[in-house]
Amino acid sequence: MSLFRKKSVEVIIREAAEGLGDGHGSGEMKRILTTRDLTFMGIAAIVGAGIFSTIGGASFAGGPGIILLFLFVSVACGFSALCYAEFASMVPVSGSAYTYSYVAFGEIIAWIIGWDLLMEYAIGNIAVAISWSDYFTSLVNHIKIGGYQLHIPEYLCMDYWSAKAHQLTSEEAGLAWKNAPSIGKFKLICDLPAFLITIVITRIIYIGIKESKRSTNAMVILKLGIIVLVMVAGAFYVDTNNWTPFLPHGIKGVLSGTAAVFFSYIGFDAISTTAEECKNPQRDLPRAMFYSLIICTVVFVAIALVLTGMVSYKNLNVGDPLAFVFGNIHTKFAHMLAIIISVGAVIATASVLLVFQLGQPRIWMSMSRDGLLPPVFAKMHPKYRTPSFSTILTGVVVGVPALFLNLDEVVNLTSVGTLFAFVLVCGGIVKFHNDKNRPDSKFKTPYVSGKWIVPGLFLTAVWLLWTFNHESLINFFSAHDKIGPVVRINLVEKVPYIGFGILFFMTAVLSFFKKYSLIPILGFLCCTYLLSESGTTNWQRFILWLFIGLGIYFLYGHKHSKLGIKLRLKNEQL
Ligand code: ALA
Repeated sequence: MSLFRKKSVEVIIREAAEGLGDGHGSGEMKRILTTRDLTFMGIAAIVGAGIFSTIGGASFAGGPGIILLFLFVSVACGFSALCYAEFASMVPVSGSAYTYSYVAFGEIIAWIIGWDLLMEYAIGNIAVAISWSDYFTSLVNHIKIGGYQLHIPEYLCMDYWSAKAHQLTSEEAGLAWKNAPSIGKFKLICDLPAFLITIVITRIIYIGIKESKRSTNAMVILKLGIIVLVMVAGAFYVDTNNWTPFLPHGIKGVLSGTAAVFFSYIGFDAISTTAEECKNPQRDLPRAMFYSLIICTVVFVAIALVLTGMVSYKNLNVGDPLAFVFGNIHTKFAHMLAIIISVGAVIATASVLLVFQLGQPRIWMSMSRDGLLPPVFAKMHPKYRTPSFSTILTGVVVGVPALFLNLDEVVNLTSVGTLFAFVLVCGGIVKFHNDKNRPDSKFKTPYVSGKWIVPGLFLTAVWLLWTFNHESLINFFSAHDKIGPVVRINLVEKVPYIGFGILFFMTAVLSFFKKYSLIPILGFLCCTYLLSESGTTNWQRFILWLFIGLGIYFLYGHKHSKLGIKLRLKNEQL
């Protein structure tokens, strides 16, 4: 079917090298990144707002047991990282999951993933830029120079809608609303720091991969240094009594932090977008993904332990938990650490912004080479050898909304979008492991047959659920659910779980008959499970987003796709 037309690995690599002709191919990009640079980029993208901010709410909901979720999510990401690594070494071009899906599933799925990654990268970055601005302003507002207190006016560091909505309930919003200059009836309120950081980062990315690499390396060294300092200093204040009860709200409480914890891990996948700027992508990308994931898992678990050990989990429902726990200790040293942590958060969020701002234009470049976006998206800067138009556009797409919006909700939506990409990447590897004509790759995810293990896991999961949680199984469609409008609401919330149950069952049956490869299947199941835990509202928004994307595909991509044009020409000649 023409919607599922595929490209072979050879064609993709050749077209990437040729680019659009006239010097826009991958041969024109600078191949300078090594395993170390890529590992640093991975850490740059992973350690950010998640660990400095959203971990607070997750620890509050789950208690010290939140470390179990960190471990589980790291295992899920590990399986997915193996699949990403195999694809990255099979198709070493910049499109990441978009290109991998083109090879494995065909054009329309590739487009959906390309569109979905826009949510992970560009829209996610709006939230990251806003979060950077929050850290930055609070840091500036703590600084005194020669007795003079620095201060950024409130109306220059928040969005119009939040100021309007919360003017009576929040002091900050009230001041922003009161002091903002007006043009007629309209008040000039915007998040200027969020806009400015996006411009600075876009400028670095625009002028070259070397500059991006240097900035990333410096930021990672600084932020890891600060985090190690926090862990070591924090260890002295840990009171082990705070670790009991370990699961104050049971496993359910822990799982409610799924989207937030997963958000902390997002990023190792983004380095695959630099494939055409790596010295040896087939060897270095897989290594860097594993190294960055392992380093970050150790860091995250250690931070979660220190955090929940320093104060009771009940006090952690704050946006800046690391600075908060030190701010609570009334010594000069702890006060200084709280400021150092804020500096760390500013650096960390800036580095996340950098890697995702770097990744987005490279995905657009790949989509443009395939004809799914206009040619200008693949235009290369003659001197800097970066996708110039796409880089500037990414800056505008992120910087301008960051001035006016408050996208707290987007954090969860970003997790859903990323999980969706992970599911397809794992699914692609399952498919290739069962394909006799599987394309060659230097790194191969080890094959272990899932014939008995996957059905065994399914039966074990059912047994565990029945033994330890049979009440919720019996009450799944309980009588009071069926009264009045409640029935609709409750059922809607259960749809993702029902969907996961059916999918798990089908995967178990298919694994039995087709001897599916265990590791990618485990990645697939872990990620679909995390998806089912991500909340129905996120799902609804995500589906709406995909529909908009499909509309654009049928209006433009389907007609202009290079593969489509080639096939049409071939048909006409016959
Ligand atoms: N993992 C990245 C962060 O936490 C996206 O900011």
